[in-house]
Amino acid sequence: MFHAGKTLCVFLFLALIPGHICSTRIKYPTVLISILARNKAHTLPYFLSSLERLNYPKDRIALRIRSDHNIDNTVEILEKWIVSVQHQYHSINSEFVDSDSYSDEQGPNDWSRLRFENVISLRESALNYARRVWADYFLTLDCDVFLTNTNILHYLIAKNLTVVAPMLRSSGLYSNFWLGMTDEYYYLRTDDYKPVVNREKLGCFDTKMVHTCVLVDLRKIESDRLTYVPENIDEYDGPRDDIITFAIAANKSDIPLTVCNEEMFGFVMIPLEQDDTVAFDMLQLTNLKLEVLNVQEKLYVRDDLVEYTVVQGRSR
Ligand SMILES: *[C@@H]1O[C@H](CO)[C@@H](O)[C@H](O)[C@H]1NC(C)=O
Ligand SMILES: *[C@@H]1O[C@H](CO)[C@@H](O)[C@H](O)[C@H]1NC(C)=O
Repeated sequence: MFHAGKTLCVFLFLALIPGHICSTRIKYPTVLISILARNKAHTLPYFLSSLERLNYPKDRIALRIRSDHNIDNTVEILEKWIVSVQHQYHSINSEFVDSDSYSDEQGPNDWSRLRFENVISLRESALNYARRVWADYFLTLDCDVFLTNTNILHYLIAKNLTVVAPMLRSSGLYSNFWLGMTDEYYYLRTDDYKPVVNREKLGCFDTKMVHTCVLVDLRKIESDRLTYVPENIDEYDGPRDDIITFAIAANKSDIPLTVCNEEMFGFVMIPLEQDDTVAFDMLQLTNLKLEVLNVQEKLYVRDDLVEYTVVQGRSR
């Protein structure tokens, strides 16, 4: 039988019929990666360099990038990067809005009402865009994430979960998942949190919330019920917050929110408090780089992107 098949293949090849008839190969699933960037000039070179290094066929990845309300050169760096890689990706859809600040905010790190509304609407339109273009997977990825595990997409996809997040390490106990949540939807630290963050306990765990880097399998029918918009959920009683709304939507639809820490996947910056300065975030970036070295990982960065940050950086 084997010989007969081989002979047939050779015969077909000779007959100039494409050779791949002999061994059918399936294309990788398509992934739409949604990126929202605001005032991230100092982290973008690391973020973009790690994104670019992912071991996944770029012609199966579409990017959707939005940026607004910047007071640094976030947009300039994004534009430079897009030009340098756009021929590799399936497509890059970007939109940059030129405006400094929200009228109701107390500074660039304030989560004011208008800012929440904008982020809710940006996240929802990215999710709906992914559905509309028939992406198999939706990956929402924030710009303060540095992925060091280049096989992360293959790993997450192989989990075959509707919603899955890789556990990200910070320079403290902060990470991108909640194991506990109060009845009022506030964060609750539980006893099992630390062993998971410190990777003393390894595996995939059900959480109350995952955020910052989350993969959604849009081929699963129940994923249609996921949303970032409170109005889309019956009897919604939570705050107007994109990630809490997403968590409640998942819970009401019986969709587990899973975080996995079986491997080292990457790193995340600790979010800024309202009064923190960019200088403080630079310090945090240094701390995070030390943490990366500490756990024997490596951060890659494209020299031309870093140089660009320094030379073009507007001083404030
Ligand atoms: C993936 O999960 C779905 C259910 O959500 C199941 O029907 C399917 O068989 C699973 N696929 C694999 C390869 O395990
Ligand atoms: C939804 O939340 C309830 C209450 O916290 C919990 O018991 C249940 O397991 C959650 N459902 C899912 C799918 O996580």
